[in-house]
Amino acid sequence: MSFIERIKFTWELLIDRLGNSHRSQVESQMLQIIKRFDSRSSYDRSRAKGAQRVKADSYLRHLISRAARVGLIASLGAFGSTCFAQSNGAIADASASAKAPSITTCVACHGALGAGSETGAPRLAGNNPDYLAHALSMFKAGTRASAPMQAVAQNLSDSDMHALAAFFSNQHPPLVKASQPPSPELVMAGKQLAETGVGTSVQACFSCHAAGGKGNGARFPSIAGEPAAFTVARLHEFQARAKAAPAKPGTMTAIAATLDDTQIEQVAAYLSVTGR
Ligand code: HEC
Ligand code: HEC
Repeated sequence: MSFIERIKFTWELLIDRLGNSHRSQVESQMLQIIKRFDSRSSYDRSRAKGAQRVKADSYLRHLISRAARVGLIASLGAFGSTCFAQSNGAIADASASAKAPSITTCVACHGALGAGSETGAPRLAGNNPDYLAHALSMFKAGTRASAPMQAVAQNLSDSDMHALAAFFSNQHPPLVKASQPPSPELVMAGKQLAETGVGTSVQACFSCHAAGGKGNGARFPSIAGEPAAFTVARLHEFQARAKAAPAKPGTMTAIAATLDDTQIEQVAAYLSVTGR
C-alpha cells in the first residue's frame, strides 16, 4: 500500500466504524493531518473552506490528490500517532453510537498502528491477517485466554475482525523501544536459540516461524518485533497448557515445554529488537 492508499484506507475504516454521521468530523481530522505534513506551503484556508462545500466524495478525492501533490513523505509511525491522536476526539464523541470497538480502542493498548506495548500487548502490525482474525475469533469464542481481549472481541462481528486484521497487518510502525533495552549478551544468546535451537532439546524457533521470525502463512505467526513482556507471558501460557495436558508433538505447546526461564528471557529479548 502506498502512503496515500493508507490514508484512504484509514479514513474509510474510520468512517465505516463511526458511521456516516461522523463523516465530516473524520474528514476535518484528516484535513488537519494533511495540513501538518504540508510543510512546504502553508495551507490555503480559503481553498479549504471552498472545498468543504464540495460533496463528501469529491472532497476526499480533492484532499487525496492534494496530499499526493505535496509529496507526503512522513513516516507511517508519525502519521499513525498523529492520525489516531487527532481522531480521538471524534471517536470519543461517537462512542455512544459506535456498535463495535473501533481502531482507537485497539491502539489504546496495542500502540499506534498496532506497534505493540512494552507492558505486554502484542505487536499486531505486519502479522498475517488470517492469523490475527483467527486469534480474534478464538478470544470471542473463549478458546484463547485473555480477559481484556475476550471482552473486546465479544462485540466484533466476523467482518469487523477481518477488517481490523487486514488493517493492522498492513501497518509497519517502528518497533516499540523498551525503557530498559536488553543487554547485548541476552540478545545474542536469544538470536542463537532462535536461529539454531539447542542440540536435540530445543528446536530452532525460525525452523517454523521462518527466517528472522517473520512468520509463515496463517499457521506460523510472525514473532519478530514482539515486546518482550508479551513473548514471555505467551510462552508461559503455552507451558501451563503443556502441564495441564500432554502436548501434541510439533505444536507450540510442546516447543514451549522444552524451554527454561533463562531461554525464554533470552529469546524474548532478541525478538523485541528484531524487525518484522
Ligand atoms: C485493554 C487492552 C487491550 C485492548 C483494548 C485490545 N487489546 Fe488486543 N490484546 C491485548 C493483550 C494484553 C493481548 C495478549 C493476550 C494474550 O495472549 O495473553 C492482546 C492480544 C491480541 C491479539 C492476538 C495477537 C497475537 O499475535 O497473538 C489480537 C489479534 C488483538 N489483541 C487484537 C485487538 C484488536 C483488533 C483490538 C481492538 C478492537 C484490541 N486487540 C484491543 C490487549 C488489548
Ligand atoms: C514446530 C514448529 C514451531 C517451532 C519450532 C516454534 N514454534 Fe512458536 N508457534 C508455532 C505455532 C504453530 C504457533 C501458533 C500457535 C497458536 O496460535 O496457538 C506458534 C506461536 C508462537 C507464539 C505466539 C505468537 C502470537 O502472536 O501469539 C510465540 C511467542 C512463539 N510461537 C514463540 C516461539 C519461540 C520463541 C520458539 C523457539 C524457542 C518457537 N516459537 C518455536 C510453531 C512453532
